[in-house]
Amino acid sequence: MGSLQKTAVCLLFLSIFSRASNSTLATFVCSDVKTEYYKPAAISCIGSKNITNVIVKRCENCNKQNSCLETVINTWRGNNSSEKGRIRLVLQHNVSEVHIQEVKATDQGGYKWYLYSDAGVGDGCATLEITAPEIEPSLTWNGRKLACLSPTGHPQRQLHWFDDHGTNLTGSASLVSEEVEGGLTSLTSTLHETPILTASKYCCTVLYDVHTKRNKTKCLSTHKAVTDYPHFTSTPDPEIPKTMKEHVPIILVPIILVLCCFAAVLYYKCCQRAKPEGIFRPIKDPPSNFETT
Ligand SMILES: *[C@@H]1O[C@H](CO)[C@@H](O)[C@H](O)[C@H]1NC(C)=O
Ligand SMILES: *[C@@H]1O[C@H](CO)[C@@H](O)[C@H](O)[C@H]1NC(C)=O
Ligand SMILES: *[C@@H]1O[C@H](CO)[C@@H](O)[C@H](O)[C@H]1NC(C)=O
Ligand SMILES: *[C@@H]1O[C@H](CO)[C@@H](O)[C@H](O)[C@H]1NC(C)=O
Ligand SMILES: *[C@@H]1O[C@H](CO)[C@@H](O)[C@H](O)[C@H]1NC(C)=O
Ligand SMILES: *[C@@H]1O[C@H](CO)[C@@H](O)[C@H](O)[C@H]1NC(C)=O
Ligand SMILES: *[C@@H]1O[C@H](CO)[C@@H](O)[C@H](O)[C@H]1NC(C)=O
Repeated sequence: MGSLQKTAVCLLFLSIFSRASNSTLATFVCSDVKTEYYKPAAISCIGSKNITNVIVKRCENCNKQNSCLETVINTWRGNNSSEKGRIRLVLQHNVSEVHIQEVKATDQGGYKWYLYSDAGVGDGCATLEITAPEIEPSLTWNGRKLACLSPTGHPQRQLHWFDDHGTNLTGSASLVSEEVEGGLTSLTSTLHETPILTASKYCCTVLYDVHTKRNKTKCLSTHKAVTDYPHFTSTPDPEIPKTMKEHVPIILVPIILVLCCFAAVLYYKCCQRAKPEGIFRPIKDPPSNFETT
């Protein structure tokens, strides 16, 4: 009996396996796309059979397929477009395309496809790469802080600091990243090398691509920085308006106290005038007090 059950289970598994292998008879080829920021993009998968239904999910990248969580297209549920039509599916026979208008930097990543045909289901993944403007960084020294600004660009770029000996100073800098538009970011890195600039030159490098090491560098010579801001060591903190603001409540407190005292004295005098004898009576029994007067 036991062996019979086992063979039954085996047969079941075999039949499932053969059906699964037959279902992959439909093959699909997806191709990677590279597009400029804000331009339209079309990512496509071509099948060996007519495609009947499509599911497209967005992933961090195609090598991390457990990151494919956000569903962009699902024709089984009638979702042929998303983001108010900015992303939409164009399906024709064995060609399935996802058209994206005005690509954002955040559209970059993997697109995982599940394609259904009468011959079975297949899947594929296509990478969309977005190229963003690569602007030179700018360096500023205000007498107190050395800052490097990269006003706009791909969120994956990096800022690095070096001195004239090529020493990496990035570890003693702090980075602030803000979104500007369409997934592009502005980066500001501030180097904590104050109040004295010890190196003779400071360079800021924007690394656009970690793999190809594509970068742009801007340097500031300390000599020039100091001549531009001759009083850099003696420049006082421009924080006087802030301290003035902090003084306001301190000034208000005594004024309020004086007003309160004045009001108390007025009240006291007024009551005294109304019933002068009441002042020697205990304050505890005002009703009897009222009756006697
Ligand atoms: C699967 O394909 C094999 C040949 O590769 C065929 O013999 C078998 O009948 C097919 N099974 C189904 C369920 O279509
Ligand atoms: C897709 O279909 C067209 C015609 O419908 C055909 O010519 C082409 O070979 C098909 N592509 C693949 C990969 O099978
Ligand atoms: C898909 O469409 C259904 C209605 O047809 C809607 O309720 C749902 O929110 C849509 N899902 C997405 C991810 O757009
Ligand atoms: C979605 O696309 C499929 C296949 O192209 C089509 O049959 C269906 O009518 C479309 N649905 C909507 C709501 O546009
Ligand atoms: C694919 O679809 C087109 C039009 O819908 C049709 O003309 C063609 O015969 C279909 N091909 C197959 C293999 O079913
Ligand atoms: C510089 O140092 C930082 C960490 O302090 C590191 O992340 C970065 O990769 C280094 N840059 C180079 C070009 O070695
Ligand atoms: C910047 O690019 C140059 C080549 O143009 C390369 O030698 C250098 O290592 C790059 N810098 C960084 C920090 O990757």
